[in-house]
Amino acid sequence: MAARKIIIDTDPGQDDAVAILLALASPEELDVLALTAVAGNVPLDLTAKNARVICELANKVDVPVYAGCDRPIGRDLVTAEHVHGKTGLDGPDLPDPTMPLRDEHAVDYIIDTLRSEASGTITLCPLGPLTNIATALQRAPDIAERVQQIVLMGGAYFEVGNITPAAEFNIYVDPEAADIVFKSGIDIVVMPLDVTHKALVTKPRNDAFRALGTPTGIAVAQMTDFFERFDKEKYGSEGAPLHDPCVTAYLIDPDLFTGRHINVEIETQSPLTRGMTVADWWRVTDRPPNATFIGDLDADGFFALLTERLARL
Ligand code: BDR
Ligand code: CA
Repeated sequence: MAARKIIIDTDPGQDDAVAILLALASPEELDVLALTAVAGNVPLDLTAKNARVICELANKVDVPVYAGCDRPIGRDLVTAEHVHGKTGLDGPDLPDPTMPLRDEHAVDYIIDTLRSEASGTITLCPLGPLTNIATALQRAPDIAERVQQIVLMGGAYFEVGNITPAAEFNIYVDPEAADIVFKSGIDIVVMPLDVTHKALVTKPRNDAFRALGTPTGIAVAQMTDFFERFDKEKYGSEGAPLHDPCVTAYLIDPDLFTGRHINVEIETQSPLTRGMTVADWWRVTDRPPNATFIGDLDADGFFALLTERLARL
């Protein structure tokens, strides 16, 4: 089967970095057309830089990187340096990129690519706030029916929130954008905190990355070393949750994951619960299903896949 064409929309972020590395290491399954950067974990200039740092770490300097929106639709940007560090990629000491950023705006790239490639052949993989994707849908509503699928990291139901008591970071930062995406009619698969909090980098799993002995394996171990201090303090968990790699792992091996096709609505109004993903997990309404909401994964299988793929870079 031909590799699936994907555009990774991202705000790196250590866990974004691992998600991107997993995709770049899997050319039989995934054809990474481009990375599109968005403001999120850190401001846009840093996410656009970090996306190129990761391509260079993977020796994939031909992957085009585009910069997109520098702030949410109609709100001020909220960032997460308290989790990811000042650079967004704190942990390893990686060189500044030499590969250029493309001139075209990421939103224009997304629209142009969806219009020029065969309909139903491009999957979008948002790993940050949904600003670029929603802006593209607003400007060019015709592209919605041309998207094969959106597989995104965002939201929570049982785990509720990580940036507020009610909301997960990616959805909280730009709830209006999330609302547009969830109402788009596109086939959506969601990786909420409910599943990503089960993808924990325990010490043996991190040792396995480091033991690869490659620049990529060592950098990933250093990234998760940095990233885990936050979650260990906050949740008392065994290690860092690899949120965003759930998206690219799903595209490589969906059988690692289970979920439900349900209705998911985004709270945009309430100051108390802004950005909440109101997921009808128990199907207590007759609102129509609009997303496959993932709840569980085979964590050992996930880490075996990830380690085996990182070894290829
Ligand atoms: C999400 O927010 C970011 O901090 C991570 O990169 C991930 O995409 C988790 O809530
Ligand atoms: Ca992210």
